[in-house]
Amino acid sequence: MPKDIKIIGVLTSGGDAPGMNAAVRAVVRACAYNKIGCYGIYQGYHGLINENITKMSARSVKNIINKGGTILKTARCNEFRTKEGRQKAFKTIEKNKIDALIVIGGNGSLEGASIFQKEYSVPFIGIPGTIDNDLMGTRCTLGYDTALNTVSEAIDKIRDTAISHNRLFFVEVMGKGTGHIALNAGIGSGAEEILIPEQNMGIERLLDSLSKSEKSGKTSSIIIVTEGEKIGKNVFEYASYIEKNLPEYEVRVTVLGHIQRGGSPTSFDRVLASRMGVYSVDCLLNGLSNVMIGIKDDEMIHIQVDKAIKSRGEINKDLIRVFDITSI
Ligand code: F6P
Repeated sequence: MPKDIKIIGVLTSGGDAPGMNAAVRAVVRACAYNKIGCYGIYQGYHGLINENITKMSARSVKNIINKGGTILKTARCNEFRTKEGRQKAFKTIEKNKIDALIVIGGNGSLEGASIFQKEYSVPFIGIPGTIDNDLMGTRCTLGYDTALNTVSEAIDKIRDTAISHNRLFFVEVMGKGTGHIALNAGIGSGAEEILIPEQNMGIERLLDSLSKSEKSGKTSSIIIVTEGEKIGKNVFEYASYIEKNLPEYEVRVTVLGHIQRGGSPTSFDRVLASRMGVYSVDCLLNGLSNVMIGIKDDEMIHIQVDKAIKSRGEINKDLIRVFDITSI
């Protein structure tokens, strides 16, 4: 029989993602609606270990649905990777009579919750909060849509200056070893090339393709590179290689960096966060644990966390085809 849930703890963990606040708001309000107590846990697992927690009411989450970042703060907590750390975290749970956790975060954060659940039987539900979109079983993760829009907007601006100067721009985007952001922003912003880890393009093919583009009359180009691209070159190495071998182009590099994680969430992310937050509380009240919430065919679904974190999410082959066709 599932344990009666009277108090839920909610935390945000790992890299922040736009929409995390909207998800916290939905969790807190779903708790209030169901007459369940709710603790906000600060700085992810760090706050759980150090008992940095606060009681939340429906009013504590007012005016945050439109805010980027996370009011609960976040951290990548190495101590929670240790048995001692998790033991301290369990003490906080026991002392404050927290019956279950809702963890909003990416791969590593959900893996941590799963290990903790196996050791201490603390039920938890995961909400996939990461701009990387690298979790299986959900059409998209929370924050991904906002990040994509931020990247597309930035590239639109870069294109203005690239065209004006007849320049070739290398733009590095985030993705933690996956090319979802690069591929989708590449299509959406009309980039000429994308380098993603899932497709080992290789620098010679890139050179070849850029020379062809140049001959076909392209005077400027945008090349999107995923951080940590597989063949081991970073964006600056690519840029200097191409500059050396295609001297007719002037080359520049822009690393978009953490700008991709900030900003007000899109409407899509706000709605997704609200649905995921409410559904995560429903799941706990229905006795579920160790599952991650996802969206599939516009319905909320849940899948086993161990499955969700197993792979980084497949790259949609049709998107690659569309990119190849539309970027000629
Ligand atoms: O997982 C989100 C993410 O922004 C990745 O895209 C990136 O690789 C990483 O976090 C950067 O982490 P940090 O902010 O700790 O440097």
